[in-house]
Amino acid sequence: MTSKLFTPVKIGSVELRNRTIRSAAFENMCVNNGPSEALFNYHTAVARGGIGMTTVAYASINQSGLSFAGQLWMREEAVPELRKLTDAIHDEGAKASIQIGHCGNMTHRKTCGQTPVGATGGFNLYSPTFVRALTVEEIDQFVKDFVNAVELVKKSGFDCVEVHAGHGYLISQFLSPYTNHRKDEYGGSLENRMRFMVRVITAVREACTRLGLGLVVKVNMHDGFKGGMAFDECLQVTKTLEALGVDALVLTAGFVSKAPMEVMRGCMPYKTLAYYMDMKEFWWLKAGVRLGGRIVIPEVPYTEGYFLEDAKKFRAELKLPLIYVGGLVSRKKIDEVLDAGFDAVQIARALVHDTDFVNKMREGGADYVSGCKHSNYCIGRMYSREMKCHCACEDELPPKIKAEIAMLEKKWETANV
Ligand SMILES: Cc1cc2nc3c(=O)[nH]c(=O)nc-3n(C[C@H](O)[C@H](O)[C@H](O)COP(=O)(O)O)c2cc1C
Ligand code: SF4
Repeated sequence: MTSKLFTPVKIGSVELRNRTIRSAAFENMCVNNGPSEALFNYHTAVARGGIGMTTVAYASINQSGLSFAGQLWMREEAVPELRKLTDAIHDEGAKASIQIGHCGNMTHRKTCGQTPVGATGGFNLYSPTFVRALTVEEIDQFVKDFVNAVELVKKSGFDCVEVHAGHGYLISQFLSPYTNHRKDEYGGSLENRMRFMVRVITAVREACTRLGLGLVVKVNMHDGFKGGMAFDECLQVTKTLEALGVDALVLTAGFVSKAPMEVMRGCMPYKTLAYYMDMKEFWWLKAGVRLGGRIVIPEVPYTEGYFLEDAKKFRAELKLPLIYVGGLVSRKKIDEVLDAGFDAVQIARALVHDTDFVNKMREGGADYVSGCKHSNYCIGRMYSREMKCHCACEDELPPKIKAEIAMLEKKWETANV
């Protein structure tokens, strides 16, 4: 079969020069929750590296949705610098997308400026923090905040918006029976648990149509643990999103507070994670990660294209364009995914490792494979430093972290011979 990879594709009215999209992978590069030179340099390098569209990750629609100091907050003040970024991406021939969302209960008062909010109140050990349930009036305001963020996205020159409805963040916290114990019209039946998402996407769809933006939603195929959402309910969610007229879905899985490694698979470098944690008053959490990380963040085996079999089941049931994400590092696998009926692919780690991955695939031919060896150092680091591959920061790494990476890469190589 002739490869579709370097042929154009449309997401709504947005035409990409090829079928590659840089997946939303949190950069942690913002300063005072606004764009920075590092964010500019990374995304322009990805655009120069041949990508069809690059996605700025994890921008919050409002202050309570912030879970990191280095995270983007969609505010009027951010627009001029974001405009420079999208202009530079366009100059390189790529399109620009941005992921918007709200972290829900996955934050702390010190970061989001208030008691964290979620679908349901309680205590979140991850932060660790008390959380309060959103009121119906606040839900009304959040729908408006999503629309306001979309308007700022347009002003900033983006072509496309990606709503984050997966991974256990706010929309996903409403969808999942694990985090939604509400007794009102937003909890209980699947129809009720979908109500917040339906309201957000209906309003965002209207805004994107009015403003001429493409609309993508990132959504779970399963939450990845017993008591979370499984295939049947997730299929209903995707069918509802299709009926609401979104332009494409990104199919993913996992839940940050319960099954985080389901998203990315492979090993978690616990020593790296603990090493970078700046949590003086939560020293016990840092110690806990170092000693008991394996229990709190269990590993999930990595295989190339690990979501493909699940995603094919959704492909068989849905008509709208689908974007595949999950464990793509080789030209062969990407061609296989496109031949299986997916319209485009998203790639995160191969582009953290090397922003030129797409051009190198084009030049390297059918056998080209990324040098990413899935130590997942970049993930351990990203929680408290800017996103970077270990290959780009060898000089700053202490011997114990180098040893951990070497051990994990060896483990991965042995499992993949
Ligand atoms: C460093 C890092 C940060 C990530 N941050 C986000 C994020 O902000 N939003 C999101 O939807 N997914 C995030 N992800 C998940 C990726 O978008 C992607 O779904 C996952 O890594 C699988 O793709 P890959 O195998 O190509 O890396 C992140 C992944 C990595 C490696
Ligand atoms: S740190 Fe490891 S997993 Fe992350 S991009 Fe680099 S090689 Fe890949």
